[in-house]
Amino acid sequence: MKTEILANTQTQQAASWLGQGELVAFPTETVYGLGADATNPTACRAVYQAKGRPSDNPLIVHVDGPQMVWQYAQKDERAEKLMTAYWPGPLTIILKLKPQTLSTTVTGGLTTCAFRMPDNAATLTTITQLGRPIVGPSANTSGKPSPTTAHHVYHDLNGKIKAIIDDGPTRVGLESTVIDLTVKVPTILRPGALTLEQLQRILGTVQTDHHPVQAGEIPKAPGMKYKHYAPRAQVIIVDHPRDFPQAIAWLQQKKVHFAVMAQQEVLDNLDLAAASATFSLGDSLQSASHLLFAGLRQFDLVPEIQYILAQGQTDSGLGSAYMNRLSKSAGNQHFH
Ligand code: TXA
Ligand code: MG
Repeated sequence: MKTEILANTQTQQAASWLGQGELVAFPTETVYGLGADATNPTACRAVYQAKGRPSDNPLIVHVDGPQMVWQYAQKDERAEKLMTAYWPGPLTIILKLKPQTLSTTVTGGLTTCAFRMPDNAATLTTITQLGRPIVGPSANTSGKPSPTTAHHVYHDLNGKIKAIIDDGPTRVGLESTVIDLTVKVPTILRPGALTLEQLQRILGTVQTDHHPVQAGEIPKAPGMKYKHYAPRAQVIIVDHPRDFPQAIAWLQQKKVHFAVMAQQEVLDNLDLAAASATFSLGDSLQSASHLLFAGLRQFDLVPEIQYILAQGQTDSGLGSAYMNRLSKSAGNQHFH
């Protein structure tokens, strides 16, 4: 199958293919998603296949507004408040399903389901034209960094999907915040651009699920147990910019090929002669989040690189989302 690239105006074509059970990757403000008609179990099964994704890892159902959610989910006042405050936006809400509404292929066999209204005009129009929600895991090969450009999607899924709607690089660059409202105290299962503080403003008490998943245990967000966001080389987090010179000296002593990924002002103050490659994360936490996955993918193109030294950030606000993804890509290895 030849994968077609659609302009962001070709939503009618995208909706028509989705309606026929085809897979179409779509842009959002966070990362690109791999779309299929959420009411078509055969199409949803094909999503797992194209990504190489374990079938017990449920999919997010993308809607064009709250009304579409309530066709499938049980009413929830806290969710309604969140939707009013933050939709469309980078917030995924887990709710209890009404019985027999969405197939177990979508939910991974759970009685709950994740819903999100993405902040992207082309994608919202596509969903409205289809008249049904679309599932959308990130449109990468399972385990690889999530795609923040149509080119990343093409690299991973060319020949496996019908089309990609190209709407340029995504704005945020990290996946949505996932909040579970099926439990007594609302619980963040995955940090994202929408922060703990923003959720607390609407809901009061909110907790974060920091519980590391043990072997054989069923995690709350099944996706959190798999190896994630991993480039080919080993990532090592450098928690403070002042430690870069020491980390570089250590890798030089090991006689290995390495790359450095940090904000521009950090790069500007380092001797990088020994590095095989460098990648600038720009000049802010926003730019670092926006560019993190693109940077990790970039280094896969340089076969000799064995290690990537990557700049850490303070673990709060957007920094929590950045550190969550970077820690996973590094298998939690920090430079000490
Ligand atoms: O920003 C995003 O959320 C992107 C864009 C495309 O919308 N999508 C995305 O999907 O990141 P995915 O499939 O890569 O991640 C969904 C996460 C996984 O960790 C999954 O296990 C969890 O949400 N999840 C989905 N349904 C769930 C449920 N019913 N209960 C608990 N966790 C759930
Ligand atoms: Mg993903």
